[in-house]
Amino acid sequence: MAGDPRHPATDLGGFVRELGAFVLFDDDDAAAIRTSAPLVLKHEAVLTASVYEHFLQHAGAARFFLRPDGSPDLERLERRRHSLARWLTDTARASLDPVGLYGLLGIGIAHSHRAHGPGGAIPPELMVGAMSLVQTNLARILAQELGDAAAALAASVAWNKLLLLHLSVLLHGYFVPWREADRRPAGC
Ligand code: HEM
Repeated sequence: MAGDPRHPATDLGGFVRELGAFVLFDDDDAAAIRTSAPLVLKHEAVLTASVYEHFLQHAGAARFFLRPDGSPDLERLERRRHSLARWLTDTARASLDPVGLYGLLGIGIAHSHRAHGPGGAIPPELMVGAMSLVQTNLARILAQELGDAAAALAASVAWNKLLLLHLSVLLHGYFVPWREADRRPAGC
């Protein structure tokens, strides 16, 4: 973490473990996530659809999902909705296993260095915004499903810690430099 000159990707497991300790993510949080996972995942389709519907209402986010004629590309949206659902299902395991974390870094790079498809690379603030939308949806679902306010709060707190650990890894994709030399026009 802070003060360590190595790139976090050299030991992503260690980096996230340390950040997890910093945000007080402990075994009780992991257990709260795993216990509430079935309650959350039964709303997965509605949650992911609401995030992508929200994207379509904002030009800055919608542009990644539009056809050349400006209409929403429903197939692309459906594929992305499934990607988000897959990530949510993996997240619900509350695992900080390095293999999963490197997969997450790969997802970050797929957004930060996106070189094809409409819109190009996804701005980092939209990653932060998307995570906020997920948090908002989760808090509502947990309140509705758990009924008991204290249990819903404990579960929300646990999920929020883990989601921000994930966000930290996703954003590290943005700190991986392009190979500038390869992007220079020939002869430069
Ligand atoms: C919580 C934040 C997000 C998560 C967890 C997430 C998850 C994912 C996953 C798992 C994939 C598949 C990556 C792969 O095939 O390796 C993906 C791809 C993609 N996502 Fe996201 N996403 C997030 C935010 C966003 C946002 C904010 C946008 C745009 C507004 C976006 C647009 C896309 C696009 C366009 C692709 C396709 C990338 C490509 O062309 O290969 N995502 N996302």
